[in-house]
Amino acid sequence: MAVRVVKPGVFWIGAIDWDRRLFDALIPLPEGTSYNAYLVKGSEKTALIDTVDPTKKDQLFRNLDRLKVDNLDYIVINHAEQDHSGTLPDILARYPAAKIVTNAKCRPMLQDLLDVAEERFVEVKDREVLSLGDRTLEFILVPWVHWPETMMTYLKEERVLFTCDFFGSHIATGALYAKDEPAIYPAAKRYFAEIMMPFRRNIKKHLEKVDELDIDIIAPSHGPLHDSPEFITDAYRDWAGDETKNEVVIAHISMHGSTQRMVDHLIDALIDRGITVKPFNLIGLDLGQLAMAIVDASTIVLAAPTVLVGAHPNAIHAASLVSALRPKTKYLSFIGSYGWGGKAAEQLTGILASLKAEMIPGHLAKGYPKDKDFAALDALADEIKAKHSGL
Ligand code: FEO
Repeated sequence: MAVRVVKPGVFWIGAIDWDRRLFDALIPLPEGTSYNAYLVKGSEKTALIDTVDPTKKDQLFRNLDRLKVDNLDYIVINHAEQDHSGTLPDILARYPAAKIVTNAKCRPMLQDLLDVAEERFVEVKDREVLSLGDRTLEFILVPWVHWPETMMTYLKEERVLFTCDFFGSHIATGALYAKDEPAIYPAAKRYFAEIMMPFRRNIKKHLEKVDELDIDIIAPSHGPLHDSPEFITDAYRDWAGDETKNEVVIAHISMHGSTQRMVDHLIDALIDRGITVKPFNLIGLDLGQLAMAIVDASTIVLAAPTVLVGAHPNAIHAASLVSALRPKTKYLSFIGSYGWGGKAAEQLTGILASLKAEMIPGHLAKGYPKDKDFAALDALADEIKAKHSGL
């Protein structure tokens, strides 16, 4: 595993996980990921910033060996989640004099998750600084990106901001920096959608803190670093902002073709009205693609048949995901089909009720759709167009 120089005395010493395909037993990782750990050598003290996922402990240890790090004074933990903190117990054992530097919310979480001894901690407050001799670390609390204890560490003299998950991307690459912006943009957007979107209001506030800093490099803990920081901060401003696009996302599934015929008709009707449509068949779908699409769509339409008395389970799953991710979507609707009755629409509306989005009444067809059903779908497309034109 390579050690990379970020700045003089500042090294990337993390691990690239080329083969990981699932995170949290939930999130697909089609391009792998990395766990970025950094070493900062000052004239008097040495600090490790974050560790790596415990499955990659050996890579971190080999990198420490390559740099001949015999003594470590501080281990800064920006975030307690185990993909960054999980190797902490092993690091503490290897460096018995090292202190953990973290904030008051993170400390008990590390104790809960990793059973770390109380006496190993140095607790820091927002904007507190720690001298390494000729280098200074400043700690900036940024709660809820994406846990309550998250913080950033700013290396003042070198203008490097270590942001942990904030500004990260799940992509395994040998490139240290995000030079290939067309490739990194979708990975960063997927990461935002899956991890950060529920906290976009916090992110808007935190972006103001980032703007106040003089930054050469943003160094997150997943994916490449940003030596053109405005690339990722501008993207975050866009994704976290309130504006939505003239787009409709249709998440759909069909059992015998009735709902599919309705979806096909609605897609055409929306295209006829100049609206961008992004349909996602829920069978075998990488839900990350759906998550990315709802970052900035103005309307989400769920389309599903009725199974027994409720919506198809895949549609319930998709609705639960949308509800959890809390997109800035302005309008929601539901279309589908049924054989003899049921409460599919009420069920999905209930799941999505937590979103601050207006529910546009959709349409349910009894059996295969007929002319009156197509007319209802045309009316739905008209209403969506009218709503979008008012945005
Ligand atoms: Fe990459 Fe929230 O851990």
